[in-house]
Amino acid sequence: MITINPKKPGLKNIIILATGGTIAGTGEEGKTTNYQAGNLDIDTLVSSVSNIDKIANIYGEQIANVDSNDITIDHWLTLANKINELSKQDDIDGFVITHGTDTLEETAYFLDLTVKTNKPVVITGAMRPSTATSADGPLNLYQSVALAASELSIGHGCMVVFSDGIYSGRNVQKVNTFKTNAFNSIEFGCLGYMRDNVPYFFNKSIKPHTVDSQFDISGLNKLPVVSIAYFNIDADPLILDYLAERSEGVVIAGAGSGTFSSNWLNEIKNLEEKGIPVVRSSRIGSGIILRDETMDRYINCIPSYTLSPPKARILLSLALTKTKDFSEIGKIFSEY
Ligand code: SIN
Repeated sequence: MITINPKKPGLKNIIILATGGTIAGTGEEGKTTNYQAGNLDIDTLVSSVSNIDKIANIYGEQIANVDSNDITIDHWLTLANKINELSKQDDIDGFVITHGTDTLEETAYFLDLTVKTNKPVVITGAMRPSTATSADGPLNLYQSVALAASELSIGHGCMVVFSDGIYSGRNVQKVNTFKTNAFNSIEFGCLGYMRDNVPYFFNKSIKPHTVDSQFDISGLNKLPVVSIAYFNIDADPLILDYLAERSEGVVIAGAGSGTFSSNWLNEIKNLEEKGIPVVRSSRIGSGIILRDETMDRYINCIPSYTLSPPKARILLSLALTKTKDFSEIGKIFSEY
């Protein structure tokens, strides 16, 4: 429960949940390198964004202040449970999460599948620390708050705002390691654009999310462990066995259309006997992986459709909270 005392009664009440990242990073004045991510607290971050108080009443909460490579499943469960709880309050209108960009798309997809509200949930970050010349965080945060406060945003699931673009949590990917325009959804395009504080929507994801998703994390304090195996020429198939010993499911970042060597294929039979589902994704980053007579000859092998390896890992983990049945898991992948 958060006590809301609107400072400006006509404005929407938006909760910012801060987790750290470059957007909260500081370093040498003017420079974009050698900074520390997750250094500013949420109040300092918000106060650096001019006119943000004119578009919404903001209530900030610090969930963590870490580099997003240190985000854990505990952080995910905390975020999802908090949003699910606070969204029941009639006087809260939307949510913004500040996050490091390196793993932002993973948190976005997890929340897209586990948050149970139609109220807008928006994630953003920055490629340049707050102390850089032309830091990109303030505009990204300003536009995220504006998007979370917009009636047009209701029912879009968890969205990402970055560099004037609006993306779905399911399809968004980091596509550049250092430019400020670091995110897009490759062949699926964006949901829309932000121009200053005004959203313009053009697309909607038809995949189940938020209130239509079957996944319920309330009452869970951990998730089934799923690991990712990266295939390359002559990769040792025993990596699959090693991961299967430590996981309830394995995702393969395969070559091309989710492919791998005959040695790996043989190893998948051993995983089938151990009851371990294997999802075939691809290291390519675009395209679709569909059922294939050869690659999916063992019933534990499931194509990932258009999900990247880290996103397939999230869906497989959530699927395993519902069923261990290979064909049921396959149906979940074809639907989501
Ligand atoms: C991080 O992911 O926390 C560091 C990098 C970034 O935010 O751009």
